[in-house]
Amino acid sequence: MSEEPGRQLGVSGGAANTWALLLAAGTGERLGLDRPKAFAELHGRPLLAESLERLDLCPLVDAIVVAAPAGWEEPVILLSEELAASKVVSCVTGGASRAESVRAALAEVDDAALVVLVHDAARPLVDDAVVERVLGPLGEGFDGAVPALPVPDTVKRVGAGGIVLETVARDDLVGAQTPQAFLATALRRAFEREHAGATDCASLVERSGGRVAVVEGDPTLLKVTTPSDLALVETLLRSA
Ligand code: C5P
Repeated sequence: MSEEPGRQLGVSGGAANTWALLLAAGTGERLGLDRPKAFAELHGRPLLAESLERLDLCPLVDAIVVAAPAGWEEPVILLSEELAASKVVSCVTGGASRAESVRAALAEVDDAALVVLVHDAARPLVDDAVVERVLGPLGEGFDGAVPALPVPDTVKRVGAGGIVLETVARDDLVGAQTPQAFLATALRRAFEREHAGATDCASLVERSGGRVAVVEGDPTLLKVTTPSDLALVETLLRSA
């Protein structure tokens, strides 16, 4: 594994250089459950357990802040304790939007932090390799990096009434995933501006003038939205 970017940036060890914000505050209505998506059952435990455990065990992550659904802070803390996830330093109540949840979690990050990773708990199969890939560009002058995959389908812009307005050339289009990595200063700067409607953090960093690199994504990092996504991730976990 290559050297940690925090160290490449010339910061001595010991301090919590790399923080991960784990976003678990979504309602997950499309799963049709009586609980938030983070507590949907995956492989016999809450969906959140998978990404929380993986990030806690990742040697490139020093500290974790979890954004919990309102009213589910206590179960998140209990789950962290059950998993002995020793890097969890804080659990905040998430906001009404993903960006608001990031803002709440970012407020808990130590001023001395160098790097902030932002990950959707809805993508359970995060691994050390993708974390390493997104951290790489931060040591090469970039403000952020996102894992992404080429868009396999033909993409169409659709207007009212389901009429196709145009077919968009897909050669330079990619689908962005998480974890996304940022210099802490760049992410904080991005969140000083209006962030309503942002579906990822990279778009805010781009908008505030930051340079964001794309690195290779991972097809298994799929986002659980529907019951069939949950079943697919369950199959991937069983076959691992
Ligand atoms: O809703 P969507 O699946 O796009 O959410 C992506 C991630 O953001 C999920 O992990 C979800 O828990 C999180 N989220 C959040 N706070 C919200 C909405 C979504 O932490 N208000």
